Parts: sequence; structure tokens; C-alpha cells
Amino acid sequence: MVKQNSEPGQKFKRYTVTSALPYANGPIHIGHLAGVYIPSDIYTRYLRLKGKDVISICGSDEHGVPITIKARKEGVTPQEIVDKYHNMIKKSFQDFGLTFDIYSRTSIELHHQTASGIFRKLYDDGKLIESENEQYYDEENDQFLADRYIIGACPVCSYEKAYGDQCESCGSSLSPEELKNPQSMLSGKKPVMKKTRHWYLPLDKYEPMLTQWILEENKGKWKSNVYGQCKSWIESGLKPRAVTRDLNWGVKVPIENTDGKVLYVWFDAPIGYISATRQWAEINNSDWKPYWQDKDTKLVHFIGKDNIVFHCIIFPVILHAYGNYILPDNVPANEFLNLEGNKISTSRNWAVWLHEYLKDFPGKQDVLRYVLCAAAPETKDNDFTWKDFQARNNNELLAIFGNFVNRTLVLTHKYYNGEVPEISNPDKEEYKIKKEAATFSERIGNSIENYRFREALNEMMNLARLGNKYLTDSEPWKIYNTNPKKVKDILNCSLQICGKLSILCEPFLPFTAEKLKNMLNITNLNWDSAEKEIILPEGHKINKPQLLFEKIEDHQVEAQVKKLHDAWQASLENQNSDLKPAKQNISFDDFAKLDLRTATILEAEKVSKTKKLLKLRVNTGIDKRTIVAGIAEFFDPKDIIGKKVVVLVNLEQKNIRGIPSEGMLLMAEDSKGKLSFITLDDNCEDGSAIS
Ligand code: MF3
Ligand code: ZN
Repeated sequence: MVKQNSEPGQKFKRYTVTSALPYANGPIHIGHLAGVYIPSDIYTRYLRLKGKDVISICGSDEHGVPITIKARKEGVTPQEIVDKYHNMIKKSFQDFGLTFDIYSRTSIELHHQTASGIFRKLYDDGKLIESENEQYYDEENDQFLADRYIIGACPVCSYEKAYGDQCESCGSSLSPEELKNPQSMLSGKKPVMKKTRHWYLPLDKYEPMLTQWILEENKGKWKSNVYGQCKSWIESGLKPRAVTRDLNWGVKVPIENTDGKVLYVWFDAPIGYISATRQWAEINNSDWKPYWQDKDTKLVHFIGKDNIVFHCIIFPVILHAYGNYILPDNVPANEFLNLEGNKISTSRNWAVWLHEYLKDFPGKQDVLRYVLCAAAPETKDNDFTWKDFQARNNNELLAIFGNFVNRTLVLTHKYYNGEVPEISNPDKEEYKIKKEAATFSERIGNSIENYRFREALNEMMNLARLGNKYLTDSEPWKIYNTNPKKVKDILNCSLQICGKLSILCEPFLPFTAEKLKNMLNITNLNWDSAEKEIILPEGHKINKPQLLFEKIEDHQVEAQVKKLHDAWQASLENQNSDLKPAKQNISFDDFAKLDLRTATILEAEKVSKTKKLLKLRVNTGIDKRTIVAGIAEFFDPKDIIGKKVVVLVNLEQKNIRGIPSEGMLLMAEDSKGKLSFITLDDNCEDGSAIS
């Protein structure tokens, strides 16, 4: 029953292509583009050129904790956050020529209906498990703490700020109870355990189906990074997974008496693909169902590697449990793109944002598309550098593609007044070149169909290389006077290659393709017409050439690298959000009551059976006294003897672990709780009054 879409060579009637719905909690950067949106756009543009029935689906993912946390940070409502970023993302995608048939969003009513309808049917069919258990609860805010509302130390790598669902330092997927020293993101307090009711999708029950469908049928067909992740998930044993959350932002759980509960964002978001298709069908007076339910539809999900389990295991289980939906034929997930040798980090602003790129390089969308495809993290993480960006523009796009097209068109105008010259007596060389040029469309298409976009792009450039070399080698400008017939053949042949390029570069470089077609004065040619030897007939009039690419100078890319480093620095300076807020004002008289003196530490030893305490003997200038200080976690007793310190000497005496402490050592505590001494000049006399 799950055997579908898997016969080799099966012909599909239509294609449903989805691209991961970006969270509407921030703008889009090059990592998103390289990993998901450029590959999916190349794929769908190609299919359209092949005349296939294809819909390309995307939209904003507007639910879940990432949105509510961002809203809290900015002090606005979640709706305001998603409105702002949805529009911003949508514009960036349009600006970069991403041709989604619909760019929807999950906050729309149609999506809420679709998602709750699917949940309700699973619930009614007894496909969900209801269970009550204990979960972390923030008493101060009266709220259960979902996923990212809870942070603590990672049980795997000890990173101190791991989230309740994932450690961003080591990548482990976690559950909140596993965190050490859990802390509520809302109050900063330690949360308590409290009972709550949730619904679970019993993934374990679908293990046989997943084993057969993924591990057997898709072996050798899915990319090895994708297959490998699925295999390790399935083999380590699947567990029921909660599909509801205690949160007040999202799709309401469609069951009576479940106030304050919503569907888990990873339950509703992929259903967003279906809702978006429905919206597209409404707008276009079409039927959405064949695109999701007919066996002769090929469903392909473009995603980044952090989304694999949701698209290969959880969403397929939802669709399968619901019944009569197709499962994805392929999930060509990419690895991650790094930037100048570092991980892209949105919080540290180590990123190239699309809207900023366009301000600095207006009109150069195709250059970025080209570089991101050429350096796409298809099989392993890959690095984007501005030097590589410059080199690929100057040495490839400009020196090969642009140069070839420009020389061909300029010469056509110079010699033949912009008309395609006739072929007179082609020799072996032209014959060979023409034959070879005609083979590219199939090869490139084949690479694209197999999700090998870097290879496809390289082949497309090879066609430009072929033309460029041919033109350079045959030097028509040298023989124009002596062998005019030969020159006609050379330029005719070069023009045919330009025609092919205008078709075959479109999936990768759509803006360039458009310009080139205008210059060649052609429209509406499909992919297969690039197989023909003659695309531009004799006598066809072409338009004046304009430059396709421009040189990118050193100072331009140097400025970009500097911008990155500056942004990183600024983000460090702005990361003081964990510092305690300023206390309320006091009178000068209040302050004057404190007797603060400089002192020297004479002796120090650990207080036995405690982790934090040191017993100090200090010289305050006025006397020598004992002080118990909570600094043992940060300082070794032997290292601090002789240190100059500040002491509050008129604090009431207090017994700490049976030791009378006569005063208080003043220390500076940073946002992470780390202590430092207050520095004093070495020659400062003990007992000096601080005021
Ligand atoms: N918003 C998710 C992310 O950025 C992707 C959601 S994909 C969907 O990682 F299928 F769930 F929509
Ligand atoms: Zn970790």
C-alpha cells in the first residue's frame, strides 16, 4: 500500500514541488538561498521549460515558539512580527527571481482549517494517543514552558544555553527534562513540574511502513545524507511524539476543553504546503487534490538538513495515517553553507542578508544565484567567501559567458548590420561544434532531474566555454577580409550557441536569460528547442548588445568582509540583554552609610563541604578580620593571596557555616554569573576609604 512513485523511469503527470516554509521571525540570508530556494527554483524553472505541469509551493511559517520569542524580545505581538517578516521575505524572494506559484502563510484562516481538519480526523480515527504527564511550568508567569522557553546545560556537551528541544552547540536533539539546571526563559527562575494533557503521534507504530518505504524502496535513490539520517532515526527506535503544545499562538487544538493548547508547529507547518496549494487552486480556479493525492504526481520537498526528520518521517506518517495522500518521491536536502569560514549566525549577525546584498550590488541577483549554486552544500557543508564570489564573477561569468556573448553580438552588428549571416560552406570544425552544442540540453536536464545542480550549472558553463574557445581559436576578425564566407559560418555557429545559452541558463540565471533573449530578439523557446542545431534562422535581426556582467573590484569585496566583521563586533557589544536591569535610585545619604575600604587578602582556604565558599583573612588597614566569600568556583585560594580587594567593612556580622564573617568582599558579576575582582592599583594603601 505504501509502494508508490518508486518504479524507476515511471512517468509522472504532474509535479508538486515544495520549499521549506521559512520562519517569519527574521529576514532571509544566503544560507537559506543556497540550501533550499535556489535549488527548488532551478528545478521548477527547468520543469516549466520542459512543458511539465508543475506547481511550486512556499510560504511563511508563522507559528511556534521562534515567533513568540521574537515578539517578546521586540515587545510587540506575534502577529506584528509575522506581518513584518512575511512581507520582507516575500519581497526578497521576488527580488531574486524565485518563481513560486504561490507564496502563502500559515496564519491565514484556510491554513487553520486545513491543519485542524487533518488533526481532527486523526483524532476521530483513533490515530493519536492522549496522555497526561508532567512538564515544566513557570509559576511566576503561569505558563507551561514549551521547547525553547526553557534553557539549561546540555547533557551531552555541557553547553550552558541549550534549548529544551535542541542544543545548538553540539546539535543533539533533546527533551526539556534532560537539561541540567533548567531555567525559564520568561522569568529566569527554575521551573516546576506540573501535569498537563497532550496528544501524541505514535511514530513507533509506523516503523514497518517507514522501513519498507525509506530503507528499502528509496535506498540508492535518496541522497546519502538524507537516507543516512532517516536510517539512524528508524534504527534507534521511534517514539510517540507530542503534536500539541501549551502555547497561545498557533492553530488551536480542535478538541473541546483544550484552551491554551495549540498544534505543535511541526505538525501544522508542513500541512502549510497543502493549504498553500488549496489557496493557489482557489485563485487559479483549479483543483488542488491531484497535486497531493494522485499517484502519478511527483512530490518533491526542498529543505535544509535540519528539517530532514520532519519531512521524511513525521509529515509522511501524518499523511499516511490520514490516508489517500501521496508521499514524497524525493527529499533532496542540502547541508549547511558557512560564511568566510564560520557558521552563519543570525544572532551574531554573521550573515549576508538578501535585502542588504541588493543594496550593495543592485541588479546583480544572478551573480549571487550563480555563486550560491556553484558552491552549494549539496553533499557536505560548504563555505561562501567574498573572494570566491569575486573570482567566479570575474573569471567565469564575465570572462567566459559575458565575453563570448558580447563578442559574438558586437561582430554580428559590425559585419552584418545585426542580421544572422547565412551558412555557406561549414567545415568539419563547425559541424563538430554544432553537434556537440546540441547535446547540452539533455545532459544539463539529466543533472537537474537528479538534483545535481552544481554539475548542471557547470555543464551550462561548459557550453559557454565551448563557444568562447571556438570564437577565440577561429579568430574571425583576422580573416574577415580574406575569407568572408568562413566568417559567416563562424558567427552563425556562435550565434546558435548564444541562442542555446539563453534557454539553458534560465533556470540558473533568469535575469541574464531574459536580457540575452531580448538581445537576440527571441521569446518563448522551450528547453528541448536547445537540441536543435538552428535556433536563429538566417536573416533574423538581433538587437543591440548590452553588457551582461560587470567586473567586481577588490575594494567591493573587501568592504563586504569588513562589514561582516563590524557587524559581529557590534553584535557582541549589544549582547548585554542578560545583564541585570538598573536598580531604582537611592539618596546620597543612603550611599554614604556604606563604609567601603581597600584591603589585602592575607590568607585563603576552602570552607570544607561547600562548593562556593572561601574563608579569607584580610587586612583592612584598620584591622585584620575574617570574611567568608562565595567565590570558590572561580578562584583558587593560592592564587588570590596578596590581592587588593574592596571590602564593605560596616556590614553586620553574620555566621556562615559556623564561621563569623565580618564584612563583605565586593566583586563584579557578569551576565553569565562569572565573578571578577575590582581592580585597584598595587600601591593603594590598605584602609583607603572609597567614596
Ligand atoms: N520553518 C522551518 C525552518 O525554517 C521549516 C518549516 S518547513 C515546513 O526550519 F514544512 F514545516 F513548513
Ligand atoms: Zn550539546
